[in-house]
Amino acid sequence: MSANNRVVLAYSGGLDTSVAIGWIAEQTGAEVVTVSVDCGQGGEDLEVIRQRAIDCGAVEAYIADAKDEFAEEYCMLDLQANGLYMDAYPLVSALSRPLIVKHLVTAARQFDASVVAHGCTGKGNDQVRFENGITSLAPDVACLSPVRDLALTREFAINYANKHNLPIETTHHNPFSIDQNVWGRAIETGFLEDLWNAPTKDVYNYTDDPTYPPLPDEVVISFEKGIPVAIDGVKVTPLEAIVEMNRRAGAQGIGRIDIVEDRMVGIKSREIYEAPGAMALIEAHKELERVTMDREQARYKQRIALRWSELVYEGQWFSPLKRSLDAFIRDTQEYVTGDIRMVLHGGRAVVTGRKSETSLYDFNLATYDEGDSFDQSYAKGFIEITGLTSKLAAARDVKFGKGEAMPKLNLS
Ligand code: ARG
Repeated sequence: MSANNRVVLAYSGGLDTSVAIGWIAEQTGAEVVTVSVDCGQGGEDLEVIRQRAIDCGAVEAYIADAKDEFAEEYCMLDLQANGLYMDAYPLVSALSRPLIVKHLVTAARQFDASVVAHGCTGKGNDQVRFENGITSLAPDVACLSPVRDLALTREFAINYANKHNLPIETTHHNPFSIDQNVWGRAIETGFLEDLWNAPTKDVYNYTDDPTYPPLPDEVVISFEKGIPVAIDGVKVTPLEAIVEMNRRAGAQGIGRIDIVEDRMVGIKSREIYEAPGAMALIEAHKELERVTMDREQARYKQRIALRWSELVYEGQWFSPLKRSLDAFIRDTQEYVTGDIRMVLHGGRAVVTGRKSETSLYDFNLATYDEGDSFDQSYAKGFIEITGLTSKLAAARDVKFGKGEAMPKLNLS
């Protein structure tokens, strides 16, 4: 790498990436530009992080407030898909990586850099998400992982930071590896690596203990084409909807997830998540789909959502197949408009009411009371026809003496 080359580094403000600034410069002779993206992770102010990057030796520090962008273009698509990896994980970290990649590429163009670096290890999914993303958006840009490729271990980082007097805490040791944004929080490592160990109270931050909940909280969420647009009649942006539901569902301990997950590299790992807003919104959205979506479209969508979630988990956000599935998912949302009433209490978000102008529910067809308009005589022929293949197969079983699974009539 020539001396005038620049490296753009995804910078969290933490120990590892703070050390990476100087370490990359030393090892490659390049100037380092940091990029920090706010996806609603809370914590330190972006300006504090920017100054730390400069103090650690960055020549430029790019910051982006991407909270609304993240909510609108990433979280909302997951909500419309009801996207859960392994039927459980609302893709919190997986969703944020492609957004960070977009800003990394923007910065690489702006500061004329030919390399992008990230602080991921060589064991996880995030390295794949970053590097696949970069390859998709900027095939001419190379990727560098100082932790994986330049032997930047935790111990090395502590010694380096002390030796160079970097303005970063090296003594405080967090037992967990945590990634968080407005869609949720992921907690791993430490004593959680023993699968039998139950999570302790200090693991959680977005949710209160559901064992001792406050009084039940009733909420009405209004959707337009699968996007929440109002809560209890007050208009909200997607970001506001998530923040508000994080607060209310979080207070009831909703959205705690404790699973063993299949990582891309083949490792099974223990993951704790908390995603109160995401899980409550998905619950509401699913029910509104049950009311408004055509049966066959809904069945097919479930399969699409499963594949979509796998693609997102596996760092294929910008892939052609993922984009085609996006189009399918968005198309299914045309009539997913209406209100869902839920009671949030003791770790659960339970739907208690639905209302929609675009509903496919027909009271007169469904009712067993006065006003029933369903002609029950149609059902007889319908059953004849749908049962015909089984009837033929059963008759053949009897003919070939294979009917023993059927109960014999005892007429004596
Ligand atoms: N296992 C989750 C995923 O792959 C979470 C990863 C979170 N990253 C972290 N550094 N804790 O999406």
